[in-house]
Amino acid sequence: MPVDNEMYKLDGDLWWDERQPLHFLRTGLNPARLTYFAQVCSRLDLEPAGRTVIDIGCGGGMLAEELARMGMTVIAVDPAEASLRTAREHADRSGVRIDYRNGAGEHLPLEDASVDIAVCVDVLEHVDDVDVVLRETARVLRPGGLYVFDTVNRTPLSRLVMIKVGQEWRHTRWLPPNLHAWDHFVTPDELRLAAGRVGLGVQEIVGLIPGVPPPTMYRLIRRLKKGALTYAEFGRRLKFKLDDDVRIGYIGYATTSPS
Ligand SMILES: C[S@@+](CC[C@H](N)C(=O)[O-])C[C@H]1O[C@@H](n2cnc3c(N)ncnc32)[C@H](O)[C@@H]1O
Repeated sequence: MPVDNEMYKLDGDLWWDERQPLHFLRTGLNPARLTYFAQVCSRLDLEPAGRTVIDIGCGGGMLAEELARMGMTVIAVDPAEASLRTAREHADRSGVRIDYRNGAGEHLPLEDASVDIAVCVDVLEHVDDVDVVLRETARVLRPGGLYVFDTVNRTPLSRLVMIKVGQEWRHTRWLPPNLHAWDHFVTPDELRLAAGRVGLGVQEIVGLIPGVPPPTMYRLIRRLKKGALTYAEFGRRLKFKLDDDVRIGYIGYATTSPS
């Protein structure tokens, strides 16, 4: 089953509308992502304000706006023009300055060694060739640069949670069909090896998973499907957290060698 990246090209706001599935990324995942980002910056003694960051596969800009609010110069790239349109309009309304560019992770519209930080969240499981995207990421990062990623692991549990429960079973499916394909998921070992081959040394990988037990998750899904919860509220209640368990989703960082 191919990944359906066509949905990101649909007209209309798929991102900031709290009733849209993709909004779940903002309330469900962004808080844990930003906590992790802050932890890594502090560990590396890196002050984000004033740095140049590229958000690869930025969608509607929900994370890009958070990065801009931290004082970073943000370049945000996505191949879906409709998503970029939504992102630009929202940034204008919010008074946030972001340089949105049309482009894919395989061909980033940036000079070599031109950014301090690259962020790529929930994107690697949507691309056809992770190796090429990582090579491009390494190309645009300055020596001593930071790469922060999150993606979905390829395990029996991720097949159950993401594909069966999330997309297939009638009583539980809450994501658009074909949003994910299990064979596109990337294991931490595959990512470590592929990143290492292009000079991105993975320093850490930790789990990024729902913070509620499966029965609670099931009840929340049922309430979502009955219309009793928005996707925004659903995301907030799932309370994604950092964890040792990497069997479903994981987040991590890599660095390029100093010159
Ligand atoms: C699940 S969304 C994640 C959006 C955003 N990173 C976030 O978490 O809010 C996946 C995004 O990846 C983009 N995408 C798909 N293929 C891509 C590629 N080859 N290079 C860069 N982005 C891609 C899609 O257009 C979509 O906006």
